Order: sequence, then structure tokens, then C-alpha cells
Amino acid sequence: MLSEIADVVSCVSFKTVALALRRPAQLRRYVSYCLKIYDEFADKGLPARSPVTPEQEATITLPAYHSGGGMSFAELMILARTTKTRCPKTIFEMGTYNGLTTAVFILNSAPDAVVITLDLPPIPELPSKHLSSDKDLISNRRLGSVPSALGLTRYTQLLSDSMTFDASPYSDSVDLGLVDAAHDRLHVKNDTEKMARMIKEDGLVFWHDYGGRGALRPLASYLEDLAAECPIYRVSETSLAWASARGLKAALAKRTGLAFPHSAPFTLANHKSA
Ligand SMILES: C[S@@+](CC[C@H](N)C(=O)[O-])C[C@H]1O[C@@H](n2cnc3c(N)ncnc32)[C@H](O)[C@@H]1O
Repeated sequence: MLSEIADVVSCVSFKTVALALRRPAQLRRYVSYCLKIYDEFADKGLPARSPVTPEQEATITLPAYHSGGGMSFAELMILARTTKTRCPKTIFEMGTYNGLTTAVFILNSAPDAVVITLDLPPIPELPSKHLSSDKDLISNRRLGSVPSALGLTRYTQLLSDSMTFDASPYSDSVDLGLVDAAHDRLHVKNDTEKMARMIKEDGLVFWHDYGGRGALRPLASYLEDLAAECPIYRVSETSLAWASARGLKAALAKRTGLAFPHSAPFTLANHKSA
């Protein structure tokens, strides 16, 4: 709470006061947005870099309807163009919500690409560590409603708490990963380490909600700490961060003393559905 007040004070201007008086409910969003852009323009935190350069003639497909989940259209476009450009054979997402990003992966990957998405079972026993914004998402989610509305079925929905999820069947099998489940430091650390096991050495991992203050600051600090040991970038003017798998695996191996696999084969047979 104190750090939130300090953030507001650091942004105080005539406009901030005017907004606080006219639309107080929007103040937190405004301050958070200003600080995120300030950090980027002032070169604080992760450096900005695009994950891919698409071919000039490439096109992408996005669902027209936005069903919530926190990803902006600009961010969906980055995920779509990365999928289109890198042609991943296997995509693994942590955090399905209504399946908007799942749909983007399906729509922009090859017809034989495997898309796997993980979310909690229908009535999860929630440990108190979840942030209140994550608890809201968990109770409001309509799992898979977006792919279902679009008639998209080429994906596997896994139902498990990421903290207890066994990533070993997916070891060294994923070309493109997205970490977007719970946003507290404990979960992000757990999900990042599991993703680093699953991703292939030439793969790429995205995180969502980088750059926030307040309750999301620990997520940003975790990535910034990790960036001391491997290149991690933000995508300009978005809340996406990304890293190449090779550096991420090496950094986590050094930090945890564990091995991050890079040679186990992957077959559809060992990819289980919930
Ligand atoms: C921000 S939403 C994902 C949004 C989605 N990627 C999109 O943009 O379309 C986060 C999701 O993570 C799920 N989640 C939260 N904690 C989780 C956990 N411990 N294990 C698995 N999923 C979790 C929530 O139920 C929620 O649906």
C-alpha cells in the first residue's frame, strides 16, 4: 500500500489531480500506465526488443471479439506474428482463462501444430498466496469459450494447478511458450522454471504483465533479476516480456543447480489430455 501511494505521488501533476477528482476509479490504471511508459522511455528495467521480424507479405488472424483476460489487441498481434513467423510445432500456454490467446495460437500456427493450454480445475482449492486480481480471473473465467465460439478444436486443455503440474512429459518439446497464469512471484518462478524444462533449446518464451507496479511489481523484479544472467526483453509499449530458451535454461540451471533438459524426444503419445 505504501509503495502504491509513493507511485501515485511520483506521478502527481495537474492532470493526475483532475482525474482523481473526476474519475477516481480510473486513477490507479492511469498511474500504472504512466509509470510503465516512463520506465520504458527512461530505460529502466528490461530493454525493448521485438521477438521477430515478420516477412513483408505475412498476414495474421485475430478474433474480432475481445473476451477479457488482460491481453491487449497489440499484445495479441505480437503473439500472432511470432507464431506466424516462427512456425512452432508445439505451443504451451500457462493460463487459459477464456482461451483468447489459445485461439490466437491456433489461428496462426500450422494445421498440424500442437497447442496445449493449462489452467486450474473448475473449483480449485486456492492457496491464499494468489493476488486478488488473480482470484477475480479464476472465478470469472469461462475456460475455452473463445475457441468454442470460433469452432476451434485443435488444442488440448490441461486442468491442473501449475504448482503441482508435472512438466516432465513435455520436457524439451515446446517451441513457443507463454507464462500467463498466477502473477505473484512464487507462481511466476515456479511457472518459469517449468516452462524452461518444457521449452526446446531453440524455443522462445513470453511472459505477460511485465512492467506493472503495486501487486505486479514482484513479477517484474523476478524477470529483472533473471535478466542479470540471460537476455530478457520487453516488447515496446506492451506488458509482454520474452527470452530465448537457450539463455533462460542456462541462467536457471546456474541459479537453481538443477539441469534443464535439452535432448528428450517428444511424441503425441506422452502428451496427456485432462
Ligand atoms: C490472465 S489469465 C490468462 C489469460 C489468457 N492467457 C488470455 O489472455 O487469453 C490467468 C489464468 O491463469 C489461471 N491460473 C491462475 N492460477 C493458476 C495456477 N496456479 N495454475 C494454473 N492456472 C492458473 C486462471 O484461472 C486464469 O484463467
